[in-house]
Amino acid sequence: MPLTPALIRWLQTPAAAPWLAQLTAQPPTDAELLATLMRLRRHLTPAQAAAVVETARLRQRAQSKFPAQAGRMFFSRTAYQQASSALVAAYTARRFRSYGWVGDWGCGLGADSLALAAHGPVLALDRDALALALTQANAAALGLDERLWPVRGDVRHPPALPPAAWADPGRRTASRRLFDPESLHPPLSALLAQQRHTPDLGIKLMPGLPHQAIPPTAEAEWISLQGNLKEAVLWLGGLCRQPGRRATVLPAQASIASEGAVAPVAAPGAYLFEPDAAVIRAGAVGDLANRYHLWQFDAQIAYLSGDAALDTPFTRRWTLLEHHPFDLKTLNKRLRALQGRVTAVKKRGSAIEPEAFRRRLAHHPQGQPLVVVLTRLLDRPWMLICSERQP
Ligand SMILES: C[S@@+](CC[C@H](N)C(=O)[O-])C[C@H]1O[C@@H](n2cnc3c(N)ncnc32)[C@H](O)[C@@H]1O
Repeated sequence: MPLTPALIRWLQTPAAAPWLAQLTAQPPTDAELLATLMRLRRHLTPAQAAAVVETARLRQRAQSKFPAQAGRMFFSRTAYQQASSALVAAYTARRFRSYGWVGDWGCGLGADSLALAAHGPVLALDRDALALALTQANAAALGLDERLWPVRGDVRHPPALPPAAWADPGRRTASRRLFDPESLHPPLSALLAQQRHTPDLGIKLMPGLPHQAIPPTAEAEWISLQGNLKEAVLWLGGLCRQPGRRATVLPAQASIASEGAVAPVAAPGAYLFEPDAAVIRAGAVGDLANRYHLWQFDAQIAYLSGDAALDTPFTRRWTLLEHHPFDLKTLNKRLRALQGRVTAVKKRGSAIEPEAFRRRLAHHPQGQPLVVVLTRLLDRPWMLICSERQP
C-alpha cells in the first residue's frame, strides 16, 4: 500500500504517535510483518497500519544515512534511496552559509534542505506531492519548519529566484556506473540553464561524471564517506572556489586537487596504499603520490606504494609481505609457507573474479589474516601478498 501525502500528515497527528513510537522502538522483522499488520488493523485502517509499519522499518534502515535523526524522520522507499547522507549533506551545505536564503531544487524527502536550513532559510522545491509532504514532516520533526518552505513546482521554472541554489536531480536507473547527464530529472543542461537567473549553483551528480562533462568554469568535487564514493558535485559561479577537479574524503574533510601531477613509477616498497575512490575518480592519484612521497608500480594501475608506515585520510594501507608474477601454484605454495588465512582478494587491472578465486586458495584456518592483490606490474599479471594487520 503506497504512502500518500495524506498518510504522512496523519503520521504526524497525536492519534498516530503512540503506534509510531511503539513500532519505531521495535520494528517488525520480515517474519513478524503479517502478524503486526493484523494486530494494528484492529485499531487502524489498513492504509494507516501499513504506513506505521513502513515508517518504522525505514527509520531502522535509515540509521546509517541519518545516524542522529532517523528515529524521528519520515521516509518513502524511493525518496530514501535517493536521499543524501546527513554527513555529506552537512558538508556540501556549508558552502551556502553566506547567503541570505537558498533554493533546494528537487528536495526529495529533504535531506539536503534540512542541512541547508542549518545556515538560513530554504525554498524547497519539488514537483512531487509526496516528496513535499516528507520534507515538511521532516522539517517539523527536527524543529526546522520555520526556516524551510516546501513548494510544489518545476525546477525549470522556479517560483522565486534565490541568490544561490542546490540541485539534486533524480536518477532513472539504480546503477551508479551509468552516467548520461541528459537522462537525469531534470537533465543537466536544464539545470545549467538556471545559471541565467541564479549563477551560484551546486549540482549533485553521480560519481560516474565523465571529465568532459565538467564546464570549464566549474569546480568538480568527488566526495566519499568512510571510503564509499557518494557523489560528484559541480560548483558554479560564486560557489566555485577553484575551477578544476578535486577529491574530498569525509568525515576527515580532507581534500586534494587534481593538478595533473604524474606519480613516479618504481618497484613495490614495504607498503601497499589503496587510494580512496574519490581520488581515483577526480584523477588525483599522481597528486596524492607527490603529496606523500609515494609511487606507482605500474603507470596504468591506481595502487601506490611506499616505504614509510604513513596513515593518510586518502588511503588504506597494507604491509606488503611479498610479490610475484601471477601464478596460482606459486601463490598457494607461499600461502602455505606463510600459514595464511586469506580474508580478501582485491584486484585492479585483472579480469579474475575475486570471490571464486579465493575459494581456490590454500587456507590455514587459524593462520594470520592476509590479503591477496591481483594486479599488473610492468604490464604483466602480478600478485601481491599483504598482511591485513597494521604493524
Ligand atoms: C534525487 S531526489 C532529491 C533528493 C534530496 N536531495 C534528498 O537528499 O532528500 C530528486 C528529486 O527531484 C524531483 N524532481 C525531478 N524533476 C523535477 C523537476 N523538473 N522539477 C521539480 N522537481 C523535480 C523528484 O521528484 C525527486 O524528489
